[in-house]
Amino acid sequence: MLHGLRDGLNRAVEYLRVSVTDRCNLRCRYCMPPEGLPAKSHADILRYEEIARVVRAIVPLGLTRVRLTGGEPLVRPGLPALVRMLCAVRGVSDIALTTNGQLLARYAAELRDAGLQRVNVSLDTLRPERYREITLGGEIEPVFEGLAAARAQGFAPIKLNAVLIRGLNEDEAVEFARLTLEEPYDVRFIEFMPMGDVGLWSPQAVVSEAEARAAVERLGPLQPAPTPATSRGGEAWRLPGARGTIAFISPVSHPFCGRCNRLRLTADGKLRPCLLSERAVDLRAVLRSGACDSYVRAAFAEAALGKPEGHHLTEGATCPTSTPMAAIGG
Ligand code: 5AD
Ligand code: SF4
Repeated sequence: MLHGLRDGLNRAVEYLRVSVTDRCNLRCRYCMPPEGLPAKSHADILRYEEIARVVRAIVPLGLTRVRLTGGEPLVRPGLPALVRMLCAVRGVSDIALTTNGQLLARYAAELRDAGLQRVNVSLDTLRPERYREITLGGEIEPVFEGLAAARAQGFAPIKLNAVLIRGLNEDEAVEFARLTLEEPYDVRFIEFMPMGDVGLWSPQAVVSEAEARAAVERLGPLQPAPTPATSRGGEAWRLPGARGTIAFISPVSHPFCGRCNRLRLTADGKLRPCLLSERAVDLRAVLRSGACDSYVRAAFAEAALGKPEGHHLTEGATCPTSTPMAAIGG
């Protein structure tokens, strides 16, 4: 049996991001076209049993971590059932969820009960009016309620993902940093990437890590915070006396491809070696052909070998893929 799945550049592949749906209850302007994406039919989407089978099949290759994403994962009915199935897989030590938080208050207890330990909540502003503007009409209050519910259920860490975009919310970097002084949230500033044809991206719209850091440091010097084993995107920092941490995920200014240890499974069962490449292996076809698990593993090995060396966002390329983030799962 294959042990320790490695890609063509000898990067270990131990982390799988699973998009469970490409539907979403928001329309963030940097992510989705305003009219949404054409809905995939039910039959095209992997069933929970199929996702669990994939995860079970590839644990022997070295998989230890799974993240559920969307679209918005909680719009898919019964998500806690999938969490429960995945938590039962021996060898997977970390299961996480990325959500926009809209339905988190409703599901926090069930998710916790199913075995989920931590959540990332996408939140790009702390202001209700601006939230409506960024998400095309979403309300921020349910997100705050979701965060409160997540804390009440003992989820930890709770990470907040904020994409800073010039002219939209870059002035809030300091507000998010201030939040970490008071509350135990781990805020991650994510550089805006040119995903899909959403029309908002330009090189000028990207707020670089250096700029975000300068804004944050108006509140005090950032000190290195111990980085949890589960955090690969960047080191964490802490303002003096702060309860939460701050990190910068900078795919544009500091590409981390060399450390990238992930593959992505789309809702319709395409295995994508890289967020920024159209290359994909049709895993659904393998699953539905009646093939045994060794073929599932072979598909992963093929995808891992297809991982490109790096992307070229810094070289002025505008839109390397036409697939919006929601269809791949951030
Ligand atoms: N650039 C950076 N991050 C993005 N996300 C969605 N689109 C983009 C983009 N173009 C992030 C969301 C969320 C996660 C699912 O992906 O903010 O945190
Ligand atoms: Fe939905 Fe997340 Fe995309 Fe916003 S960023 S539209 S919440 S998938």
